[in-house]
Amino acid sequence: MNLLNRQEAIGVAHSKLILVGEHVVVYDKPAIAIPFPLKIVAKLKETYGQITFSSNLYNGKLDTIPLPMKGLEECIQKAFELCQKPLEGVHIEVTSDIPVGRGLGSSAALATALVRGIYNYFHKSLSLEELYQLVGLAETHAHGKPSGIDMMSVASDLPILYQRTIGASPLIVSKPFHVVVADTGKIGDTKKAVNHVKEIKLRRPQLVEAIIDEIEKIVMEAKEAILTGDAKGLGCLLTKNHEKLKELEVSDPLLDRLVELAIRAGALGAKLTGGGKGGCIIALARDKEHAIHIARKLKQDEAKMVWCFSNISEEIYFVD
Ligand code: MEV
Repeated sequence: MNLLNRQEAIGVAHSKLILVGEHVVVYDKPAIAIPFPLKIVAKLKETYGQITFSSNLYNGKLDTIPLPMKGLEECIQKAFELCQKPLEGVHIEVTSDIPVGRGLGSSAALATALVRGIYNYFHKSLSLEELYQLVGLAETHAHGKPSGIDMMSVASDLPILYQRTIGASPLIVSKPFHVVVADTGKIGDTKKAVNHVKEIKLRRPQLVEAIIDEIEKIVMEAKEAILTGDAKGLGCLLTKNHEKLKELEVSDPLLDRLVELAIRAGALGAKLTGGGKGGCIIALARDKEHAIHIARKLKQDEAKMVWCFSNISEEIYFVD
């Protein structure tokens, strides 16, 4: 093997934000997710011997990857098998802007970048079905029984309306929305939060089913607000959704505090995003200057990181 002209390839995926409908999407209700332009890159390089892996989470041989990441091993093995290649001779290096465990889809984005990288490396075309099948292996390991919204949204460049038994349909946004994302710095556990909702649904089915139905209504109204460019209406729906997520007991005092702060700073609306019990909030701003104003207020308080972006651009215009 001539390692002077080593073969190389990359696979890229972006992060995601759930705008409305997290948790109810697990119960086959609709939810809306948008791309969040934080990126993860998997770079594959030809090498000798076993597959090796380097990232800020783990460095070493693929077959000794730690248990919480074992789903990735399965995903990589299957991808090599589908490409009809022996599982050897590649070093995989992962670099990521996406904080882990913050409801930003880092696990789905990592698996998506890896699968794309492997197919690029072997010059194979990758169908969406194959991508979802492979990323699904890693996601099932990471989250138990995920709804599938994370892997659909990290693979989509457009906002999507997603429902488990129907699939994803893209939403065409007529006007830009300015979004602020603030990180509590606290790692959330999606699996645990999903199980918590399941438990309270078993204990108080009528109450939880009523909340689920109310969130479904919020999601359908949010879809209209997005399609008609009604940022004010969408903002109110975000805040309403947060109240319902509080009733499902997946928020926490820090998330609530950041939501309140954002609203006090004039946000059109705000809510937790993703699994909750830690992780991030999103807030909707009137325009770019307003978004930066809200972001600064959040950062001066408890937020560990803030980002501002417009959902029709690829660019994050403020990070602190
Ligand atoms: C996590 O990003 C979204 C949840 O609804 C879980 C899922 O859909 O699998 C909380």
